[in-house]
Amino acid sequence: MSVRRLAEPALQPASFAFSRANAAWAKKTINKYPKGRQQSAVIPLLMRAQEQDGWVTQAAIEHVADMLEMPLIRVLEVATFYTQYQLNPVGTKAHIQVCGTTPCMLRGSEALMDVCRSKIHPEQFHTNEAGTLSWEEVECLGACVNAPMVMVFKDTYEDLTPERLEEIIDAFEAGKGAKVTPGPQVNRIYSAPEGGLTSLTDEKALTKAGRARAAAAPKKTAAAKSKAAKVPPSNAAKPKTAAIETAPAIKSPAARKASAGKAAPSTKAAAPAKAAALEDKNRPAGIKKPAKPDDLKLISGVGPKIEGILHELGIYTFAQVAKWKKAEREWVDGYLKFHGRIERDDWVKQAKALAKGGEAEYVRVFGKKPR
Ligand code: FES
Repeated sequence: MSVRRLAEPALQPASFAFSRANAAWAKKTINKYPKGRQQSAVIPLLMRAQEQDGWVTQAAIEHVADMLEMPLIRVLEVATFYTQYQLNPVGTKAHIQVCGTTPCMLRGSEALMDVCRSKIHPEQFHTNEAGTLSWEEVECLGACVNAPMVMVFKDTYEDLTPERLEEIIDAFEAGKGAKVTPGPQVNRIYSAPEGGLTSLTDEKALTKAGRARAAAAPKKTAAAKSKAAKVPPSNAAKPKTAAIETAPAIKSPAARKASAGKAAPSTKAAAPAKAAALEDKNRPAGIKKPAKPDDLKLISGVGPKIEGILHELGIYTFAQVAKWKKAEREWVDGYLKFHGRIERDDWVKQAKALAKGGEAEYVRVFGKKPR
């Protein structure tokens, strides 16, 4: 744990006062608390003082203590405890707080600090020459599951590589920090697994509604199974994992019965979307499994499970993905229930780079290693 002291007297301004707008905000904030509990406003007031001046000065601490009628030592305790309060002047455009606690350390935080040393200043708590950037090592910031990570102002940037941190620092230096999306910097939602869920995927078993739907399903879909039976086998193997999630008609006993030649009449209305999708003209052409398939997992957004599904569709190479037209991308997106992720992650651009020159070309195009 770092020692946190107030800045040298030479750096301290003689006085502090909230701006008119901030003073009004402070009054309103203090009034939120019951009579006699106004001291509870100490954290937001100190934070507002920091947002106003860029850091928490001794004069600001004294001012907040006076406003809340608190002993000065109590406000000092708060200001010196939380690393969110900057007790020294920091970079005017960004102050990078790098978590150095064990999970982040094991996942590469030292390399992130090397980036700060080379791009900002060899020592923490010093600004760069322009005074725009500074950095420090802090203890756990509570995003360990997406380690390693940094915090800039109130936002965290997670799942970082040194290359990605360089890009983020450059963006802040260029005044474009607001354009960098906080949170995970890889393809995952919050702390969900990369490449999609790997467990707890069976909605039928998980929810009451799912169980009810499953119970009602046989009556509804019996007629639809004959449609599935008529689907000509694709040039790829029959999907397994995806079929469980998205094409129950193909896997169900009723469908197998239908495929044996006992198709029920009227198949159109209830035909499941997935069965129709498999014979869709927009389904990308598959190929036979080559002796050495490409590692599709290098494409951001493709995990082991998704790679398995792509293989089942006959997709084995970067070159195949690189050639997908919009309609084909939409078909695959719908098949995987990806809700636009193929476009957002730009699989085609990634696949083109990987097909052209492997990882080296990917690094040249994207400025970072694949996955
Ligand atoms: S260890 Fe880094 S956020 Fe918790």
